[in-house]
Amino acid sequence: MASFEICGGRSLQGDIKIQGSKNAVLPILAATVLNKGITKLYNCPEILDVYNMIKILESIGCIIEVDGNTVTVDATDTISGVVSLDYVASIRSSIILLGAILGRIHSVEIPYPGGCVIGERPIDMHLKALEQMNVSISEADGIIRCETKALLGGTINLPYPSVGATENIILAAILAKGSTEISNAAKEPEILDLCLCLNEMGANIHGMGTAHIVVNGVKRLQDAEYTIMPDRIVAGTYLAAAAATYGNIQIYDVWEHDIKSILEVFAHMGCGIVIRGKRIRLIAPQILLPVESIRTRPFPGFPTDMQSQLLACLCIARGQSTIYEDIFEDRFKAVEELEKMGANILLNKNKAIINGVSKLRGATVKAKELRGGAALVIAGLMAEGDAKIENSIYVERGYQDICGDLSQLGACIRIVEDR
Ligand code: EPZ
Repeated sequence: MASFEICGGRSLQGDIKIQGSKNAVLPILAATVLNKGITKLYNCPEILDVYNMIKILESIGCIIEVDGNTVTVDATDTISGVVSLDYVASIRSSIILLGAILGRIHSVEIPYPGGCVIGERPIDMHLKALEQMNVSISEADGIIRCETKALLGGTINLPYPSVGATENIILAAILAKGSTEISNAAKEPEILDLCLCLNEMGANIHGMGTAHIVVNGVKRLQDAEYTIMPDRIVAGTYLAAAAATYGNIQIYDVWEHDIKSILEVFAHMGCGIVIRGKRIRLIAPQILLPVESIRTRPFPGFPTDMQSQLLACLCIARGQSTIYEDIFEDRFKAVEELEKMGANILLNKNKAIINGVSKLRGATVKAKELRGGAALVIAGLMAEGDAKIENSIYVERGYQDICGDLSQLGACIRIVEDR
């Protein structure tokens, strides 16, 4: 395994380009299965989750060429509907292939993805919606088997705006007979990106980015090229790092719309925000103000994927803050590690009360999952002295080059292989 080694206390300065979005490219890679041809994707992040998704696509018959941030998927040949456990275990979001493979060949066998450290991650909404689209589903020995004679459009009311369920329904509906209407659909920017890419491929989708999406089934898709949107969570992570180190950075190639709730929180904490088109600057104050109370919410609310990073910043705010994690049941994994660095946090179920301290001190801590690991990197940057964040691989799942990016902004950070 490898670790991040950080010498803290440096203020981040400069400009940084934001990578392509992990949570947009993964469903879009799944969508390429629906086109019996070639789909070319630009600005794909070079991250572990993308490599793992590519391996799965190759295992079911796709031919894939990777050239830096450009991924070309040739799904002309027949696709297998059997996804092996080896791959699903490496990336639970491979469940997004359910709708795409079903849409292509009307049958799929995929291991149940199971939970992860942040929560149980059920897929009941995915499966219920597919059943409403004329799919018969059986589960045995941890394998989900789905098949249909024909996918039929219908009206699906989601009890909760699940991102993954919305994506799976859209993917299953693209080549279905008739129209599919999704109510209470997720409105995350990554859903919009998926739909814009699908429409570029010849799909017929309306209302994406709203809570009411309509997919009119088409006969087939066509070859297309598409550029993946910037990663709004990577953008928020770097802004948090600047806020925590009294920095002044400009991120670019990011839409304000995608990170509005994040910008609002940092402005509330006393940061200056300057927006010029797709260039967004954050100027941190000498003293960060606390956030009395904030809840994670589906888009456009404050994103759960930024909760840990905000938590780290609030450790040195001047006063008491409270964060409620209302989306995942166990997403305060970074708290125990932040306390080793001197943070003062009180956890009570889905609520974290953070009493700001004057500074954190470097320590050896463990990343346990992706965004909690990113939060520990932020803590290391702001701490006095040296910090070591073990299990850097968790962070590399979603960040293309966090060391290179932060070094470009003046941080003293490197990855070292554990001896
Ligand atoms: C996506 O996960 C993202 N992953 C997550 O990002 C993100 O945190 C999440 O959306 C919320 O924004 C990808 O896009 C690959 P959900 P997803 O379905 O689709 C419950 C990261 O760090 N639920 O919106 O799994 C579920 O348990 C990752 O990049 C059901 O109960 O999220 C959770 O509590 C982490 N039944 C809540 O809904 C279902 O059938 C949100 O889940 C589906 C979901």
